[in-house]
Amino acid sequence: MLFIMTKTIIECKNIWKIYKEGRVQALCGVSLKIRKGETLAILGPSGSGKSTLMHILGCLDRPSKGKVLIKGRDVSKLSDDELAKIRAKTIGFVFQFFYLVPYLTALENVMLPMIFVGEKNTEKCKELLKIVGLEKRANHLPMQLSGGERQRVAIARALANNPEIILADEPTGNLDSKTGEEIIKLLLDLNKKHGKTVVVVTHDSQLAKRMKRIIHIKDGKIIKAGG
Ligand SMILES: Nc1ncnc2c1ncn2[C@@H]1O[C@H](COP(=O)(O)OP(=O)(O)O)[C@@H](O)[C@H]1O
Ligand SMILES: [Mg+2]
Repeated sequence: MLFIMTKTIIECKNIWKIYKEGRVQALCGVSLKIRKGETLAILGPSGSGKSTLMHILGCLDRPSKGKVLIKGRDVSKLSDDELAKIRAKTIGFVFQFFYLVPYLTALENVMLPMIFVGEKNTEKCKELLKIVGLEKRANHLPMQLSGGERQRVAIARALANNPEIILADEPTGNLDSKTGEEIIKLLLDLNKKHGKTVVVVTHDSQLAKRMKRIIHIKDGKIIKAGG
């Protein structure tokens, strides 16, 4: 029998998140593993805890209870600075509203995460803009770009430090369906051609079906975990 070992990049164990303001239990005992090289959708309705879960998986936020392991390492005891360094090198984020810096060009936006880890490399940034099909827009400001182009810049920025994993929160939520489809194709391409692990958080079941594995979340609990 052929036994293929799949490495886990991020694992969370029995995660709870209680927002003190409003006493909301956003996550109630969530456990999951993200495997190297997979495409995964976390699917659930609005308010089900998807963004909260993504922020915790990506170490942008800490759980109220439970453990997050990044490549086997328990990150709960790390300082904010140490966590920020691990995050910058391992994870690239893509958000619904792009979050580009409005007064920086496309190229400068892509360079930002590099500056954070002290490795400024203009050539590599140009290369990344090429991968997302925007080499001709390097010197444009975000306001001079369409929504789809802005999201491409955000994806290039997510790739800046060559992370193993891309976490995308409703990456097509602010785009028309044709442009959204192009963004999904680009994310799938990054998986296929560049070996990136891609996790998409969404309320859109059509989008979720494009990923190999789907985890369903509702009221802060995983109700169905595929494969
Ligand atoms: N910073 C916060 N403070 C208080 N409650 C929050 C905060 N962020 C999210 N929530 C609440 O937690 C629940 C889950 O939110 P969220 O993770 O954003 O869900 P989703 O991304 O699936 O729409 C919701 O009830 C939301 O109102
Ligand atoms: Mg959300």
